Amino acid sequence: MRKITIAIDGHSSCGKSTMAKDLAREIGYIYIDSGAMYRCCTLFCIEQGLIKADGTPDAEALENRMQEIHVSFRLNPDTGRPDTYLNGENVETRIRTMEVSGLVSPVAALPFVRAAMTAQQQAMGREGGIVMDGRDIGTAVFPHAEMKVFVTASDEIRAQRRYDELVAKGEQPDFEAVLQNLRERDHIDSTRAVAPLRQADDALVLDNSHMTIAEQKQWLLDRFKERVED
Ligand code: DC
Repeated sequence: MRKITIAIDGHSSCGKSTMAKDLAREIGYIYIDSGAMYRCCTLFCIEQGLIKADGTPDAEALENRMQEIHVSFRLNPDTGRPDTYLNGENVETRIRTMEVSGLVSPVAALPFVRAAMTAQQQAMGREGGIVMDGRDIGTAVFPHAEMKVFVTASDEIRAQRRYDELVAKGEQPDFEAVLQNLRERDHIDSTRAVAPLRQADDALVLDNSHMTIAEQKQWLLDRFKERVED
């Protein structure tokens, strides 16, 4: 059977990565979390002292050092899922903190950061057989993807999911702070000049506010089967 490209875009914390990972595993495709790549650029900024006092990245310094950022994914045999590596180091846990979440949107809005990550993403997807999730996958990275899905859910439900995830990791987040961060990120992601978060005209829309993970998985699998059987 021919291998297609699947683009899954949507708002922060709407569960797209869980859906995308499950689908990829089920159908034997490679899964790429493009948000993890922007999170790696942000972690690099934090660790190299490239975040200014106002919380925004020092764009000039970062641009000069972009070639030092190499992101890769390797399967973790314990979880059966890919972990994110920054310059050969496993940073899967370190890129998911509230600190990184709070700083990532302005980093991801920088045109040279997007150009570098988009080129890496397109190289990863050259052969098809890939499920990639993010904000601009169906619009900018793979505008010709055979299957595009746009996922969304209400702000409060998404904040609750993110809150539960952080609690499960042993953090003690404040719900209002999580909600605020999510809204700010959505705003920056949707209004930036380059490749803003937007639903592709030919995307299937999934509002999963009131769906279980199992229902979402089935929905996605059914849509996939329709596409490849076309
Ligand atoms: O999906 P996530 O929350 O891990 O994404 C982290 C940030 O990266 C988010 O604020 C938006 C940005 N992002 C992006 O601009 N383009 C993508 N393709 C994926 C994520």
